[in-house]
Amino acid sequence: MGLGWGRWDRISNDETTPSRGPGGPPGQTVDTKIVQQLVREIEAKDASTAAHTWRVVLYLRAMLEERGVRGDELLLATHGAALHDVGKIDIPAEILQKPGALTPEEFEVIEQHTVTGYARMIALDVEEDTILDIVRYHHEKMDGTGYPYRMTESEIPQIARDFAVIDTFDALTSHRPYRHEVGHDAGDKAIGMLIEAKGPKYHSDSVELFADLYHRGKLDYILNYFNDGAELPGYGSVDDDELTKSIQV
Ligand SMILES: [Fe+2]
Repeated sequence: MGLGWGRWDRISNDETTPSRGPGGPPGQTVDTKIVQQLVREIEAKDASTAAHTWRVVLYLRAMLEERGVRGDELLLATHGAALHDVGKIDIPAEILQKPGALTPEEFEVIEQHTVTGYARMIALDVEEDTILDIVRYHHEKMDGTGYPYRMTESEIPQIARDFAVIDTFDALTSHRPYRHEVGHDAGDKAIGMLIEAKGPKYHSDSVELFADLYHRGKLDYILNYFNDGAELPGYGSVDDDELTKSIQV
């Protein structure tokens, strides 16, 4: 199943899809170049890499494929994953890339990235809940301690609950401004932490599915090959099926 931008265009050009999106041809959901540009801007602003974008995209794709999700829904979800932190474009770099602990005031500014990201999607006339829910709700927690809306349990859309697990796992297994060392057992430790926090923080189904994929080795190629030192093409610039097949052979 391809997730190339050609398919995005074909879906969006369906006659049933209303015309919207600045800069795109009539009937296109969102202009391909704008989305690719946004992903590049997120990576630059957050001092992150194309590898990070690919990892969260591929983790979510693995979870959804295991649930039997296919086709357009899978495509939208992976675009949502690539754009999840789009609101960080609006957050000052000195806060995003701060090596030390954040002050409460700085953390309040960071929290706004889910709000500004949602606003950016609305401004682009993105209407698909799959994308909007990831961008807007990916930091909510089951017990209401997440942000920015302090939603609880079933109030949080399933795709956002899934993505919260992925975002946390990736944060614990990759380099960050405040952590430069990642041990070989980082994956095991991160899974252990997620299992411990399932229920109060992360949805049990999401954690169990992700942990099951991890223990079956289904995520190994993502952890091993999509590391931050890898030179990878930007998200959307290649067909991800081709990319992952070439890596898994
Ligand atoms: Fe985020």
